[in-house]
Amino acid sequence: MKRRTLLTVAAGTGMTVLLPAGWQARAAGKYRFGFSQVTTVEPWRVQFNKDMRKEAAKHDNLELLISDGQDRTEKQVADVENFIVQKVDVLLISPKESAGLTGVTLKAIDAGIPVIILDRNVDTDKYTQFIGGDNVVIGRAAGEYAVKLLGGPGKAAGNVVEIWGGMGTQPAHDRHNGFHEFTDKEPGIKYLLDRQDGDWKQQKGYDIMSTALKAHDKIDLVYGHNDPMAYGAYLAAKDAGREKDMKFLGIDGLPDEGVTWVYKGQLTATFLYPTPGAEGVRQGLKLMAGEKIEKKITLPTMTIDKSNAGDILKQNGLM
Ligand code: FRU
Repeated sequence: MKRRTLLTVAAGTGMTVLLPAGWQARAAGKYRFGFSQVTTVEPWRVQFNKDMRKEAAKHDNLELLISDGQDRTEKQVADVENFIVQKVDVLLISPKESAGLTGVTLKAIDAGIPVIILDRNVDTDKYTQFIGGDNVVIGRAAGEYAVKLLGGPGKAAGNVVEIWGGMGTQPAHDRHNGFHEFTDKEPGIKYLLDRQDGDWKQQKGYDIMSTALKAHDKIDLVYGHNDPMAYGAYLAAKDAGREKDMKFLGIDGLPDEGVTWVYKGQLTATFLYPTPGAEGVRQGLKLMAGEKIEKKITLPTMTIDKSNAGDILKQNGLM
């Protein structure tokens, strides 16, 4: 990003001074927020940025800058460094992974910039606020649903394929742990794969599932840590002519993705993981208004299956 400067005339002095870029927005009476997004290739991230821009557009006193980490930790660290140099008023970060983004988060905090962490965490709690879904709760909902699909508590039986999100992220671990709180109680449930990192990507979901299909004749349920991976697994099963033999569960619940796939019967259910974009903007502005903000905001979830997918599509103008 190019560092911009603003020429202005210092009031009453007739003197022209050069304002550093970070002060530019303030000179115009605006707050300047920098948002470091991890990537824009995933649909959920695209929605996230949209939600954020839509909320920001409602506030005349805000300039929102969004950088794209291109799904690489080094790029995202450089983006955050850039926002620190620009002295943004609020820094919002949705990290690629926890460990790699912790150092630069601390650097921003040390520079006196309030930091709001969104969706995936970092390995410190010195930030001003965290906003995101509760992934353990979401994992539990998926686990409970899986047990029901496989025969109900105490009787559930079947072979399960689990496709992990990025191993370096807390949401993947939380989604795993919550799920297993339910499924591990069932002696009839067997897990077919060792931990397989699908890095949240549809193509990786497809590849992991293709390998699983070759190795196992009987697969009853696939749990993808997000909808793109669950859908990738569905496509792999379909290509092998076996998609009708098994159920697919995902997470995210974007109307034009997960909800649509559920509606079409490709996924059996998905669990809503709302983007924290709009809330992030609102909370940053509260902070600028001098209000105290909570350390943690947890966004709600819901189960989306055949019973409500159609209504959600209608509400979103997709039907
Ligand atoms: C997008 C995404 C979502 C997922 C979230 C977890 O990058 O993979 O699909 O719910 O990140 O952090």
